[in-house]
Formats: sequence, C-alpha cells, structure tokens
Amino acid sequence: MRSPGNLTIGLQNMCQEMSHRNVLIEIGSHLGESARIFSEYFKTIVCVDPWPDEAVFDLFMSRKPKNVVALRTTSIVAAGLVQGADVVYIDGEHSYENVKQDILLWRDKCTTLCGHDYNLTGWPGVVQAVNEHYATKKTYRDTSWRGGIRCGA
Ligand SMILES: C[S@@+](CC[C@H](N)C(=O)[O-])C[C@H]1O[C@@H](n2cnc3c(N)ncnc32)[C@H](O)[C@@H]1O
Repeated sequence: MRSPGNLTIGLQNMCQEMSHRNVLIEIGSHLGESARIFSEYFKTIVCVDPWPDEAVFDLFMSRKPKNVVALRTTSIVAAGLVQGADVVYIDGEHSYENVKQDILLWRDKCTTLCGHDYNLTGWPGVVQAVNEHYATKKTYRDTSWRGGIRCGA
C-alpha cells in the first residue's frame, strides 16, 4: 500500500506534472490510498471499483476526502456511464488482458491515460499492455506510468 516514501512521492510527482486537474477517474481504488493523494491535486476524483468486500468499501467510504466519489462497479460498466475526464489512472485487475481492455476502454475518454505497477518483475502483463499501446511513456518512483505517443501514431 501507499506508505510514505517512494510509493507516495512518485504519485505526487506525476500529479504535479499534469496540466489539467479538474476530474480524475481511478480504476481500482481499494482502500483509497492513491485517491487520497489525488484529492490533493484534482478538484474531483471518481473512484471506480466493484468493492466485493463490504468491509473494505465501508473503510473506503469512512476515510475518503469530500472531493472523492465512489462509483461501485467495474471498469467496463463505468466506461459506458461516464463521458470522460482529464486523467484516467488504471490500477484495477493487473493481468495483460485486463490492462489492455482498460487501456482500450479509457484512452479516448481522457487527455492523459496513466496507471500503476509498470514493473516487469511483479506485473509483466501491465508492462506488455502499456508497451503495446505506447511508443513512449514516463515512469515514476512508485511504478506509476503515464502514456505518451501511441504506437502507430
Ligand atoms: C491494487 S488495488 C488498488 C489500489 C489503489 N489504487 C491504491 O493505490 O491505493 C486494485 C483494486 O482494483 C479493483 N478491481 C478489480 N477488478 C476491477 C474492475 N474490473 N474494475 C475496477 N476495479 C477493479 C479491486 O477491487 C481492488 O480494490
């Protein structure tokens, strides 16, 4: 989770680089640790997560800052409900297939697409899916990634 140090600093660095900070959609929020960091930089954060564990959802709701709203559903359902955002941050299911699906679902719905766990050792599927879609990307100390120029663009 997001203990102080690299996991926090990397995400803060990425947020500071974003030029548009109105709405951020996070895919996969769990207890809301990354959402709390986003809440310091963005006006509104929409957290998309099915929260299958009721206790985790209750904790998320009790701790969340005022500018964080919960959309308790899956990424695919949410993509059909919301118009878009300045930034979408992907941190839901980490398999290659799921990250690829999330990239395809959200890349045209935001100015900046980014996510977590660009880490070949721990999450090779994340790295493969991101590399297949982005010829350039930036990575951060918490292993967040931010998409740059798309492959084939
Ligand atoms: C690694 S945790 C997120 C951690 C959080 N972003 C943070 O850094 O504090 C992954 C979350 O993704 C959620 N998740 C799993 N499948 C999902 C899906 N299809 N759509 C959205 N969220 C999903 C899980 O319920 C879990 O809470």
